[in-house]
Amino acid sequence: MRKHYNDMSLPPGFLEELRNRSSLSQVVGRKVTWEQKKTNITKGDYWAPCPFHSEKTASFHVDDKKGFYYCFGCHEKGDAISFVRNSENVSFIEAVEILAREAGLSMPARDPKAQEKIDINKELASIMENAVQFYKMQFNGSNAKSAKAYIKSRGLTEDIVNTFEIGFAPNDRVSLSQFLLNKGVKENKIIDAGLAIKPDDGGNIFDRFRGRIMFPIRNTQGRCIAFGGRAMDPNARAKYLNSNETALFDKGRSLYNHGPAREAAGKADSLIVAEGYMDVIALSQFGFKNAVAPLGTAITENQLALIWRIHHEPIIALDGDTAGLRAAMRLIDLALPLLEAGKSLRFCILPLGQDPDDILKDKGATFMQELLNNAVPMVNLLWQRETEGKNFDSPERRALLDKSLRSAVLTIRDKSIRHHYGQAIKELRYQLFASDNSSIKNKSRSYGPTQSWNKKPKLMASTNTKLSMLATQSDETNWRLRESLILVCAIRNQAAALNNESALERCPITTPDLVEIMNAILINLHDNKTDTDEKNSFEKNIQNLLGYSPLDKLMKLKPIKNHPYLKKNSAPDLIQQTLEEELTKHVALIGAFNEIKEAEQDLTGLVDEGLTWRLQQASIAKAKATRAVEEEYSDTDENTLEMSKNLQNMLDNQIWVKKTR
Ligand code: UTP
Ligand code: MN
Repeated sequence: MRKHYNDMSLPPGFLEELRNRSSLSQVVGRKVTWEQKKTNITKGDYWAPCPFHSEKTASFHVDDKKGFYYCFGCHEKGDAISFVRNSENVSFIEAVEILAREAGLSMPARDPKAQEKIDINKELASIMENAVQFYKMQFNGSNAKSAKAYIKSRGLTEDIVNTFEIGFAPNDRVSLSQFLLNKGVKENKIIDAGLAIKPDDGGNIFDRFRGRIMFPIRNTQGRCIAFGGRAMDPNARAKYLNSNETALFDKGRSLYNHGPAREAAGKADSLIVAEGYMDVIALSQFGFKNAVAPLGTAITENQLALIWRIHHEPIIALDGDTAGLRAAMRLIDLALPLLEAGKSLRFCILPLGQDPDDILKDKGATFMQELLNNAVPMVNLLWQRETEGKNFDSPERRALLDKSLRSAVLTIRDKSIRHHYGQAIKELRYQLFASDNSSIKNKSRSYGPTQSWNKKPKLMASTNTKLSMLATQSDETNWRLRESLILVCAIRNQAAALNNESALERCPITTPDLVEIMNAILINLHDNKTDTDEKNSFEKNIQNLLGYSPLDKLMKLKPIKNHPYLKKNSAPDLIQQTLEEELTKHVALIGAFNEIKEAEQDLTGLVDEGLTWRLQQASIAKAKATRAVEEEYSDTDENTLEMSKNLQNMLDNQIWVKKTR
């Protein structure tokens, strides 16, 4: 559905005039009940429970004089136009029209180009309307006996067939085209409407839909913009055939049953998103008129936006089979970055292999309602995706889990939501790791047929990095020391860690127990609760997550204990400086190491021309990086010198390193 008419085509000053003439308190007053005690009408100060999120207190504020509203609960804000848009689920221009009518302002004339487009669309819409009537007529005709019987066998009542205007396209090449041509419709217009196809070889046009049960797809203004056609023949090439994209039909921006669902969703205060036409129809027949479906493709970002305009927390009802779950996961990835306060999703995972249509017929509306009531928040499904069927009995595995959860959470753009997701995941993680599996089992809540992460999982292959296979013991010793140093600095100075977040994320960590600590740091990094406790809360959170004190563990290493910048009272900026320097050096050294090893490995295989050069470059890089380290240690600064000596000593004797593998 394309906008006919946008902001730009309104004359200057029109919107301002409209805003001035509209009374926001009056517009909002139709949707809410003002809280008498808090409201001060003479001041133009109005308060009510927010119409955009469910609450009992009155956090929704209207400043009538400024024409502005703001909810202190869900942060929804705007003016009269945005209020009408959001509360009535209409487009910008529709909201303007509504307000203009109320304010007694007449809408300005539209520009000629836009007018032309509207005229074309009107013509196509009228052709589509004729097609709807034709298919309906056919459905009731003598050619559609088997189609009718089929629809009956699917349990659809006559009422619902009429409501959804179900029709039938005869199994004939030209019946619709002929009908339209007889009505004086031009051939090219039938094609433009997507109802017929012109063969490339220049032959006669033929109907797109043949031998199919027809579902008209209407936009929110009630215009038919497309059709979905279900094959009767089980051997048909496609079970469903949908209209191609036309001037009327933008698949990714349309929803099946959009208009009726929008209206019903307001009353029911919920919206169901199903996968298929038949699901929406069955839901409607069983009283759930607040259901929409995408149109033959996975839900798009635009469709999600439309869905969110209908309801802030739609319930996605998906088949419990792998395809359905995969669709849910794709939707999670799509939705995560777009989440905002008062915009979320719930998932209703249906029993294996069943869609809402099946459930309603097998078990009835009450059962369906129960499933909907048990829909789980998105974060649980995300957790399920990352944990299901896996075992986390080693630091490597936990580290891997943390990493994937973290990268998912980081895609959330909204800072506050991101924070809350982090918290929720931390809690789930805590439950999973804090106690043995049997106690988790009792605490766990079921949110689907699969029972998820409390199942006894299969073993995963253990991770063995290429790095650790190639490194010598002294390489490892070196790395471990530097990595420990980095971790200590990060734990000791959260602000510094935050400043270097992406470097920390990229920092190679070579031993699993340290990876676990790094992940705990990264997970807690955005927590900015400042505690007045002696121990800073950042460190405490990390400790809680790990189940042990990382500092106690890391500070056992002598070079770290003796590090001049890591004394009890060391200034934060010295810690920050150390962190940044060590990060740079570590990345450089490990990078150079990898280069050399890769090149060396290549030597044992095919020698290629570029190899000598690569080896040379890598050696130069390593020498540079090493020199940087050495230069620093040979600095005249006394403390650094001492540190350097200690470090060298420890490295030489290797007395501090406890091998973990
Ligand atoms: P389903 O295969 O789940 O169909 O596809 P359904 O809606 O449950 O229909 P019945 O119960 O088998 O009659 C779900 C949706 O995917 C699209 C359609 O929009 C369908 O409603 N689809 C499916 C297609 O576009 N083409 C296809 O070939 C199959
Ligand atoms: Mn079905």
